[in-house]
Amino acid sequence: MLLTYEEARRGARRAIPRALFDYIDRGVGEESSLLALRQSLDDYLIVPRILRSHEGCSIATRLFGEDYATPFIIAPTAMAGLIRHDGEIAMARAASRHGIRVCLSTQSVISIERLARSVPEARLWMQLYLWNDPEASGQLMDRAAAAGADVLVMTVDTPRGARKAWNVRSGFDMPFRFTARGMADIALHPRWLVRVVLRSMARGALPRLENFPEGSRPGLIGPITSSQLYLRRDLNWDDVARVRDRWKGKLVLKGILAVEDADRAVEIGADGIVVSSHGARNFDAAPAPIAVLPGIVREVGGRLDVLADSGIRNGLDALRYRHAGARAVMLGRLPLFALAAGGEAGVDGLLDLFVRDYREALDFSGAEV
Ligand SMILES: Cc1cc2nc3c(=O)[nH]c(=O)nc-3n(C[C@H](O)[C@H](O)[C@H](O)COP(=O)(O)O)c2cc1C
Repeated sequence: MLLTYEEARRGARRAIPRALFDYIDRGVGEESSLLALRQSLDDYLIVPRILRSHEGCSIATRLFGEDYATPFIIAPTAMAGLIRHDGEIAMARAASRHGIRVCLSTQSVISIERLARSVPEARLWMQLYLWNDPEASGQLMDRAAAAGADVLVMTVDTPRGARKAWNVRSGFDMPFRFTARGMADIALHPRWLVRVVLRSMARGALPRLENFPEGSRPGLIGPITSSQLYLRRDLNWDDVARVRDRWKGKLVLKGILAVEDADRAVEIGADGIVVSSHGARNFDAAPAPIAVLPGIVREVGGRLDVLADSGIRNGLDALRYRHAGARAVMLGRLPLFALAAGGEAGVDGLLDLFVRDYREALDFSGAEV
């Protein structure tokens, strides 16, 4: 049984090839922002208020005018299905048992339609990386809506892929490159090879990015064939306005750290924002989200719903973000490590502990969140 983030992380390190583990675990550049991210959470102290038990209290939150059983969402993470066969299904099943919703990445291995069919009890959100071809992105939005996703999370902090030296060296990149080190790494993880790659091949193909348009779905080792499906390089507010026009459900902008951008998000009609440094994976000079969150909440908290993510390892970290003003938080690496280390049962167990930890932290803090 996995008891902590660190145990899950260590289990993941053993279970999957090093290149894939590093892809999940590491940060960008010199990893200064990744280090600072942890420190920022450790430094966020909550003076406990006494004699204010939360015993029996609900931990529900309200988002976009609706009740959510918990203030936790599984963050969109590309390629969870490479960790375990149908990893996204396993995560969605486990998360649903705990009243936690799941946001599927544009770059997931499974399509939004198959995830919705396979886990009908899951209430899905869809993440959008806008492609160069706005019509292709529009069609993905239509597919997500038809599959039942009611919230679209448009990622606005990634105008391009962030190059990471260790990624380049290992070959775990888009497209995947065969390197001697990479092959040795895979050979050392035969269970992963059988479970994920061979199982997929037995069904007829290597894992592909199934949310891409039919006929242009990049495979595990193939490049993105059409430049129309590259991340939109000059992503700007007009693009956001067009997405707002086309998407009829709730729209959340993910990756905001500046008060001015939060204001723009309100003006453009977003229903929510995620204050996020993308888990310290994009820009090594980005501030820690918890440092800027209170100012953003003060400015726009009355006009849209403010969520946050990055660096959450346990229920206490989630409480820190809630205490700093976030209505809900997203979990990225935590469920991925649990999935790698223990499959669906691993995610189930760790989320169970996560929720219990959160309740305990809430009780000790006496905080009103
Ligand atoms: C392996 C991995 C893949 C990710 N892929 C995406 C993605 O496809 N879209 C996106 O908006 N964010 C992506 N993220 C960022 C997460 O959504 C989230 O912002 C971040 O992981 C939160 O930090 P944490 O991992 O410390 O919890 C990814 C994160 C990881 C770890």
